[in-house]
Amino acid sequence: MNPFEQDPTALRVGFIGAGRLGTALAWSFAEHGLRVVAVASMIPSDAEKLAAPITGCSVVANGQQVVDACDLVFVTTPDGAIAATAAQVQWRRGVAAVHCSGVTEIAALDSAARGGAMTGGFHPMQTFGDPAAAVRSLPGCTITIEAQEPLNTTLVGFAQRLECRVNRLPPGMRGRYHAAAGYTSQFINALFAEASTIWQSWGASEEDAVRALLPLARGTLASIESAGLAGGMPGPVSRGDVGSIEKHVEALSSLGPEVMEFYRIVCDRTIPLGIRRGAIDDESAARLRQILRR
Ligand SMILES: NC(=O)c1ccc[n+]([C@@H]2O[C@H](COP(=O)([O-])OP(=O)(O)OC[C@H]3O[C@@H](n4cnc5c(N)ncnc54)[C@H](OP(=O)(O)O)[C@@H]3O)[C@@H](O)[C@H]2O)c1
Repeated sequence: MNPFEQDPTALRVGFIGAGRLGTALAWSFAEHGLRVVAVASMIPSDAEKLAAPITGCSVVANGQQVVDACDLVFVTTPDGAIAATAAQVQWRRGVAAVHCSGVTEIAALDSAARGGAMTGGFHPMQTFGDPAAAVRSLPGCTITIEAQEPLNTTLVGFAQRLECRVNRLPPGMRGRYHAAAGYTSQFINALFAEASTIWQSWGASEEDAVRALLPLARGTLASIESAGLAGGMPGPVSRGDVGSIEKHVEALSSLGPEVMEFYRIVCDRTIPLGIRRGAIDDESAARLRQILRR
């Protein structure tokens, strides 16, 4: 009988790569009743750290031993090493190879597929630094799954056990999908950095700026959560306040073209949201665009 058509808690799960994500995922799986039985990594002490809190999880010498001992193998090496890691191993029918990269196509696991394995993607939309903190932050996150049946059903079941939402992605979309995720991860840092540059123009420190701006950002996120992107947008564009934007443009122009250009691009993108909200009509939108291009 195919193990993927049986109780998911009976599946023997293994990890190749005991880094930030592999460790957090292995700990979460074990906490939620899944059977993590083997791990291999480059540095044995990293594999030992992953295995330590999991009853029945063995540290093995290499990826081949993980595959030999498991039904479902998570290849959690860095993106650039996924294909090479999979290619170093002899796969077999009835086993599955899954990576957790957002941007890497499932084709990186083609050598596993040629060896008879099912292949798929299981990408948690969360940042993994400290594994213990990551375990706590997983419930409520979205996990993007790309796989054929019966692996798909198994991975969906795993995500649900972790109390995560499931997102599906058609093949070939991972570049777009991962770029989009960047807008709510590293680009938030870029927005804070830009605001902090402006604060520093009157002598405040980056720390002052970040401490002051973080609660504002949290309030905005809460507002998006409760009222949506257009309904939950704060700021002058959301109020149709053209006069305030005019003052911003005047003030930022003196800080140089780069500061002004960034403000123009971002502010431009808030105008359709202001229109959707009903706060500005086409005429004031046109005026705003004109002010931004002065
Ligand atoms: N971190 C995140 O926030 C995050 C979020 C979503 C998805 N992901 C995805 O998760 C995957 C892993 O990322 P990560 O952040 O966990 O990376 P990481 O912390 O750098 O860990 C990667 C691990 O892979 C191990 N490794 C590298 N080459 C190996 C090989 N040939 N054989 C066995 N082990 C090998 C390393 O081993 P040693 O420790 O033993 O040297 C390291 O522990 C990537 O596909 C990434 O895109 C990460």
